[in-house]
Amino acid sequence: MTKAGETKVQNSLLLKSLRGEAIDRYPVWLMRQAGRYMAEYRAVRERISFLDLCRNPELCAEVMQTAVEKIGVDAAIIFSDLLPILQPMGFDLEYRQGDGPVISNPFREEGDLTRVIELNDASPMSYVFETVRATCHAMPEIPVIGFAGAPFTLAGYAIEGRGGTSFHQTRALMYGRPDLWHEFMGRLTRTIALYVNEQIAAGAAVIQLFDSWVGVLGPQAFRDFVLPWCRELLRLITPGTPVIYFGTGNPELLNDFVATGAAGIGLDWRADLACACRTVPNSIAIQGNLDPAILLADEMTVRHETQALLRKVTRRTGYIFNLGHGVLKETPVENVQALVRTVKEVGREQCARLL
Ligand code: CP3
Repeated sequence: MTKAGETKVQNSLLLKSLRGEAIDRYPVWLMRQAGRYMAEYRAVRERISFLDLCRNPELCAEVMQTAVEKIGVDAAIIFSDLLPILQPMGFDLEYRQGDGPVISNPFREEGDLTRVIELNDASPMSYVFETVRATCHAMPEIPVIGFAGAPFTLAGYAIEGRGGTSFHQTRALMYGRPDLWHEFMGRLTRTIALYVNEQIAAGAAVIQLFDSWVGVLGPQAFRDFVLPWCRELLRLITPGTPVIYFGTGNPELLNDFVATGAAGIGLDWRADLACACRTVPNSIAIQGNLDPAILLADEMTVRHETQALLRKVTRRTGYIFNLGHGVLKETPVENVQALVRTVKEVGREQCARLL
């Protein structure tokens, strides 16, 4: 990356917002901003499988650049997925049409621990680091966000073998065999740190940790079985790179998310943004949290709901507009474009008023 590009990235709205510096409008990017709702993406997927796409850094960068330019967002997240890191750790991963990701050899009992490999070298994931480099190269002036699954969510997939369940096997193992649980979480945490630090070395300016299923827990279970590992992970991540921790499903967990030590907290759509602005310290950025289903309504509704959400923001710095979860595949692209335009207009007026 050139010096000029790096300066632009460090002075971008996203980085400023994460550092709590004054900005003249709120940055906006969207989870799953490149995906099946976009015709260009569907055309790419007609000729290549999802996992093969993830292993093709040039094409991953192109897919993300197309999305960034088409919708006009302020940041590019690398095009990749949460689960491929589990492959070199010893899990067999498949993406089945209609079923989503499936792991055919899940972790269920003590004997399974012997086949869980803690990586001490991230090179099996080198295609992801190449994707970071290719994405930075394609968009040198825009912050590139690297990402990984947080330990609980990766453990959940590895134990259940799939997402979208109540995660009761995961919860049962956690309560019933805390020794196994903590050993597994330790191996995952150190592997994730290695993986994320290589993304930073390759040029990622920000890291987002997705704890997509953590909302199946209550606050005490989060504190006992998950928070120590999130804190350890954040401690192991290269200092100087801001981390956004995104956890879904249970607004009761918000204060404990703050305790992870992340620079930013991503909220899902069930949390009240006004309340979060009051309770999360100003030194920590808040990201979120428009319900992605609003994008399935008409354009007027999208504009109206976006404005209403922005009115809940009572801080001039430390806020990043995003959805409360990923863009749904049925979403019309024009609605996403209208959303981004609205954030840019309203954000500017509102930041000026909050001066
Ligand atoms: O645009 C972006 O946000 C970047 C790319 C990205 C993808 N997955 C691409 C993807 C990111 C950041 C992810 C993260 C991810 N992957 C999460 C965390 C975010 C969340 O949703 O909570 C999770 C849980 C996964 C696991 C995963 N990957 C599932 C459950 C599925 C199937 C469900 C679905 O939406 O298809 C995937 C597949 C996947 N990841 C697709 C994309 C674009 C669709 C694959 C396809 O082309 O069919």
